[in-house]
Amino acid sequence: MRLLKTGVDFFSGWLSTDIGIDLGTANTLVYSKGKGIIFNEPTIVALNTKTGQMVAVGTKAKEMYGRTPQHIEIVRPLVDGVISDFEVTEEMLTYVINRVRSEHRSIIAPRVLIGVPSGITNVEMRAARDAAKNAGARDVFLIEEPVAAALGAKLPIARSHGSMIVDIGGGTSDIAVLSVNGIVVSKNLRVAGDHFTNAITTYIRDQFKLHVGERSAEEAKVKLASIVDSEDGREMVLRGRDAITGLPREVVITESDIREAIAGHVDTLVETIRGLLERTPPEVLADVMQRGIYLSGGGAQIPGLTSLLEDVLKVPVIVVPDPLRAVIRGIGQVIEDIHTYEEILIQNEGELSPTLED
Ligand SMILES: Nc1ncnc2c1ncn2[C@@H]1O[C@H](COP(=O)(O)OP(=O)(O)OP(=O)(O)O)[C@@H](O)[C@H]1O
Ligand SMILES: [Mg+2]
Repeated sequence: MRLLKTGVDFFSGWLSTDIGIDLGTANTLVYSKGKGIIFNEPTIVALNTKTGQMVAVGTKAKEMYGRTPQHIEIVRPLVDGVISDFEVTEEMLTYVINRVRSEHRSIIAPRVLIGVPSGITNVEMRAARDAAKNAGARDVFLIEEPVAAALGAKLPIARSHGSMIVDIGGGTSDIAVLSVNGIVVSKNLRVAGDHFTNAITTYIRDQFKLHVGERSAEEAKVKLASIVDSEDGREMVLRGRDAITGLPREVVITESDIREAIAGHVDTLVETIRGLLERTPPEVLADVMQRGIYLSGGGAQIPGLTSLLEDVLKVPVIVVPDPLRAVIRGIGQVIEDIHTYEEILIQNEGELSPTLED
């Protein structure tokens, strides 16, 4: 029996593959067992509305943003960390899974591990599971993104020692305190990069009477967002449409404009982290105070955010190296050795999980 099972594992490992997916609101990253990260592109799809066909995915689709003819629609299938357009998510996952399968020349459908925000509803989890199944996964396993981010940050989450991670993505900021392979307390705040970008669009419309596209607003955020002034006083030119005349116009935006635009959201983030620290049991809190709070996700890169958090919370704050890939690194770690990490995967919404041996 044991021999038979080893044989099956060997063959299914050879003919099939295991894939890990960080299905983010802004970016999708895919890890293929034995190969590493093989896909890292925006979670954006371009659709032909006449035929319903997908015409571009990822970077190519993002380049089309705001510049498409009438019959092409650009869709961002995730909103606030969860699937909002099920069919398009399924199409994107199908594309990704087929790509991995053709590269591996695998005959058997892959097992897929997907990262989901902490504390999402069963319906939202079910949607992620079903989308991956319909896209061709043999079995689907789920992991909470902050758990994956903590693994990717090499935090010792298996030990009985508290670790804290704040993953500031595009749609959600996932804040979690972990110990002994589980979440002690967590908060999934739907304020993150996309909300910062939207706040910038609104600010420029209100203050400068200028309509700018989402891509321009995001570019301004990435270039200029900071918590304190830089020494060189950064600024940039933004082009858009005058809200009154309707004609093209440009304005010069400074880093203090961007700071003012996102200040409310930054406050919410800081206060939410403080609130979670207040709910953290004392022993675990002592560990966090000693070890520090780790930041991951694209939003972790805002200059000065660590110092602001340190000032307010009186705890050391550290940005994880290569913060945009922390979640997929953790997912990859699990994929390479899924039996060891079985305990930290999400159980199947009250039903039996697919067994790892399947
Ligand atoms: N240097 C930067 N400064 C500020 N924001 C940045 C920077 N680089 C990227 N971002 C923002 O980070 C976000 C993307 O981060 P990330 O890839 O971690 O999100 P995601 O995983 O797709 O989303 P989520 O986890 O919320 O579903 C975008 O909103 C992007 O604009
Ligand atoms: Mg993410």
